[in-house]
Formats: sequence, structure tokens, C-alpha cells
Amino acid sequence: MALLKLEGISKRFGAVQALSDVNFSLEEGEVMAIVGDNGAGKSTLIKIIAGAQNSDSGTYWFEGRPVTVKSPEDARALGIETVYQDLALFDSSNVAENIFAGRELVRPVFGIPFLRMREMHAQSSELLKSLRIHMHSTKLTVKSMSGGQRQSVAVARAVAFGRRVVILDEPTAALGVAEQQKVLALIADLKTRGFSVIVISHNLGHVFQVSDRISVMRQGTCIGVRNVSETTSDEIVKLITGSDTAIRH
Ligand SMILES: Nc1ncnc2c1ncn2[C@@H]1O[C@H](COP(=O)(O)OP(=O)(O)OP(=O)(O)O)[C@@H](O)[C@H]1O
Ligand SMILES: [Mg+2]
Repeated sequence: MALLKLEGISKRFGAVQALSDVNFSLEEGEVMAIVGDNGAGKSTLIKIIAGAQNSDSGTYWFEGRPVTVKSPEDARALGIETVYQDLALFDSSNVAENIFAGRELVRPVFGIPFLRMREMHAQSSELLKSLRIHMHSTKLTVKSMSGGQRQSVAVARAVAFGRRVVILDEPTAALGVAEQQKVLALIADLKTRGFSVIVISHNLGHVFQVSDRISVMRQGTCIGVRNVSETTSDEIVKLITGSDTAIRH
């Protein structure tokens, strides 16, 4: 039984049919890549999974039960956390503040909530260490960081609160080679911790390096799912571009 399953998902933005009748599934403990050209509907699909967008039609199943995911809170309640393409970090806040943003630890003193900053720094620091992310201090502000470090903070935030599924939208885009490899190692690490991971990427080398399966999207439809062990990047490219006669469904 799939951990998460979407059936017949459609989504229209005005004149644009971003998704039409998309099926998607994610097994427990697997890394599923979503690939496809710009505008194929990848981000829209994960936003629907994450509750950031609502689909026009279709069914969402989690652990075999139909569920209603209409908001990010609904998805979080299922243990699903998402790192979006734009990361959505608070630039002038520090690492710990970003990790706990919106879910701050507070202690009421005479009924007035006080932030437990020391604990948030300690927990953030532990979390980064456990993810093998090196950072001098959790007091560094995010705007002073490199792309890879920012990505790490965003992933750490997702891991801190996600229990089942972590979704990453193009986590290696705009990173240097060494930082890309760190993020890929982080994904492999998530898998060994029992998370299921959905990762969108344009880099097929990375996709083949970290994923178990690949869902290919083209013009708002999911046109095929392949096991990484049973396909080639050649076949995936052909599925993405639609430039082939040998497409099997
Ligand atoms: N909020 C929105 N309002 C209007 N149109 C949208 C919105 N979000 C996405 N779209 C449109 O839906 C289509 C799918 O977009 P989406 O962002 O899902 O593509 P993508 O596969 O993630 O592309 P990329 O690889 O460039 O990130 C595009 O035509 C896009 O312009
Ligand atoms: Mg996108």
C-alpha cells in the first residue's frame, strides 16, 4: 500500500490547465523524483500535496485512507513538510529562528509567553549536527549564508517537524558542485532515517543518484513512472520531451 497517493488531480489557473488528471504515489521510505520541463506542473503538484494549493478535482489518500488536505496545516498534521523552490526563509533572522519559525518554543511567565531562545538554539544545533550540516553558529543570520547553507537550513526546518514525508522543490538548483553533493547526501540520509522523500529536479544525474523511482510530467500530465534500476536517462529524456516513438506507459 502506498503511503501517499493522488488520483485524478486537476488544477487550472485561469486559461492554464496546470494539471490534468494526474496520478501520483509515494511508497514508505522511498525517494521519488519528479522530473519534467519548465511549466510541466511539478511545483503545482507538490503544492497540492503540501496543501499550499487546492486541486479542482481528484482524491488524496494517505495510508490507504482518503484525506482532506486544504492547507499546509492539514499536510503538516500528516507529517508532511515541504521545502519550496524559493526556500521562504527569513533573511534577517538567524538559523534557529528560521528552523522554529511559526512553531517557536515558548514558556509562559505570569501568563506572558516568552521565547525559549536558548533551547531553540540548542535543539537547532543538535539537529544540524545529526544531519551532518556544519554551521559555525545557529546565531548566524540567513542573509549572510551561501546558497547551500540556506538550503540546509530549509531542509533542517522540514526535518525538524516532518515525521513522514519531506518534499524538496529543486534543492540543488543554484548550488555549487560541493554543496549539491551535500544536499544529495542529506536526501540519502533522510531515507535511512525512514522518511519518504519527494524531490523535484532538472538534473538527471542527481535524480539517478538519489531516487528509487521517477515520475515524469509533461504539459500537466504524469506520463510515466519508472524504477531507477530499470530505466536510463535516455529513456527519461525521451519521456520528458515526448520526442520518441518507444514510449511505454
Ligand atoms: N499561481 C499560479 N497562477 C497562475 N498560473 C500558474 C500558477 N502556478 C503555476 N502556474 C502555471 O501552471 C503551469 C505549471 O507551473 P509549475 O510551476 O507547476 O511548473 P513546474 O513544472 O514547476 O516548472 P519549473 O520547472 O519551471 O519550476 C505553468 O504554465 C505556470 O505558468
Ligand atoms: Mg517548479
